[in-house]
Amino acid sequence: MFGRRKDHQIEEEESASSSEPQKSKAITTPSEQERKKDPQSDVFADVSSVPVSPKRRDHSYYVTKTFIFNALVDAIDLAQLAKLDLASAQDEIRDIVNEIIIARNLTMSIAEQEALLEDISNDVLGYGPLQPLLMRDDIADIMINNFETAFIEVNGKVKEAGIFFRDNAQLMSICQRIVSQVGRRVDEASPICDARLSDGSRVNVIVPPLSIDGPVLTIRKFRKDKLTLNDLVKFKSITPEAAEILSIIGRVRCNVLISGGTGSGKTTLLNCLTGSIDLDERIITCEDSAELQLQQPHVVRLETRPANLEGEGEIVMRDLIRNCLRMRPDRIIVGEVRGPEAFDLLQAMNTGHDGSMGTLHSNSPREAISRLESMITMGGFSLPSKTIREMIVSSIDVVIQASRLRDGSRKVTHITEIVGLQGEVITTQDLIVFEIEGEDSKGRLEGKHKSTGIARPVFWDRARYFGEEKRLANALDLAEDKKI
Ligand SMILES: Nc1ncnc2c1ncn2[C@@H]1O[C@H](COP(=O)(O)OP(=O)(O)OP(=O)(O)O)[C@@H](O)[C@H]1O
Ligand SMILES: [Mg+2]
Repeated sequence: MFGRRKDHQIEEEESASSSEPQKSKAITTPSEQERKKDPQSDVFADVSSVPVSPKRRDHSYYVTKTFIFNALVDAIDLAQLAKLDLASAQDEIRDIVNEIIIARNLTMSIAEQEALLEDISNDVLGYGPLQPLLMRDDIADIMINNFETAFIEVNGKVKEAGIFFRDNAQLMSICQRIVSQVGRRVDEASPICDARLSDGSRVNVIVPPLSIDGPVLTIRKFRKDKLTLNDLVKFKSITPEAAEILSIIGRVRCNVLISGGTGSGKTTLLNCLTGSIDLDERIITCEDSAELQLQQPHVVRLETRPANLEGEGEIVMRDLIRNCLRMRPDRIIVGEVRGPEAFDLLQAMNTGHDGSMGTLHSNSPREAISRLESMITMGGFSLPSKTIREMIVSSIDVVIQASRLRDGSRKVTHITEIVGLQGEVITTQDLIVFEIEGEDSKGRLEGKHKSTGIARPVFWDRARYFGEEKRLANALDLAEDKKI
């Protein structure tokens, strides 16, 4: 891991330095004794418990840090360091930094020294000030607007992150380091870049001149523990009965569209649905940035590719879906439908790839259907709108709506079936809807997932074919008027 970061600042310093690697003596400071007594105080051991520095540091801090950083790079053997595990590498850095502080007679308190050590360790071994946030598992999104403005989303609420970069140049170099890990680059010539961290977190970088105030970095953190339908029930995003209905929808190979606003939990829901796919099915996933975590043994994962600097080599979602069709898939799962690939997905659903699924940005099932229609129209397919609607009706069975409510909670708000076409209008029927009823004393929204009383959904025959009709009837019965 460490060896792959050689492209950044250290590498330049390394080649500039001709000094022999200095073997460090362990200088045990009082703070280190404390640290060894209490492994939880180790920065990398459990940073979730370490409060991030709430204030931006002053200029003199950065001067001292740069001075020590440069002296460290001169003294350290990077090749050796790269062979160490994280804890030993940190100890090595700690020892050398302590030596430098003593040798150069720098005066600082133990607390300052600890903060500086953490900072330098993060710079050398991780992604600088970003590192403590990346280590936390409770964060859903990290949004860096510029070197001194950063926000995080925790429990559905956005708040200030309390981290600061030295300047936009440091932020830019961290952005470059992140994207270079997946063989991409970001600079003035190609100022937009999607990437992925080694843990699977989705990253987007946009830099000047397109972003006015400096590089902007957005990270959708990858959850280590994959959420399941049971977890969604525990989080009160859905009732057990509705979760059962979703699991049946996934199993009996309904074609599903998951609709929702940004960050509403679409990808998570898609992941959960795939949990009920039988183990012997061949599944092919197509994504812009591979986020899905399917557990089945027979999965092929495909990812789109942006154009290179010469504007060549772009592989778009349409290319992937069309290629999928030649790969004998049982199901095709599309991470996000946002353009003309909508046509290819519908075609695939219509031609024997039942049980295919995709997500789409929209605020209601009806809006999802009309967005799908306009994606096809705008994709340049000169089809009359009635034909497109017929295609939608014969392809999509169910639309599931995910929403992030104003109290930060995420809910499945609709499980809606596409029923048919009446004249030129697509008719739908809701099986389950979430209705907000009020707010409790803590500002949390209260509501009910209600069954609309439909006892025989359109996919009933399909459920019977898969031997799931009893489970479906039972879940629909129990779903009526459940409070969550
Ligand atoms: N029901 C839920 N309860 C709690 N957290 C959830 C729930 N669903 C999703 N999350 C969390 O919310 C965040 C966003 O989820 P997800 O990536 O699925 O959203 P999305 O709609 O696909 O976002 P985007 O529009 O950016 O693709 C993730 O951190 C995820 O773990
Ligand atoms: Mg998503």
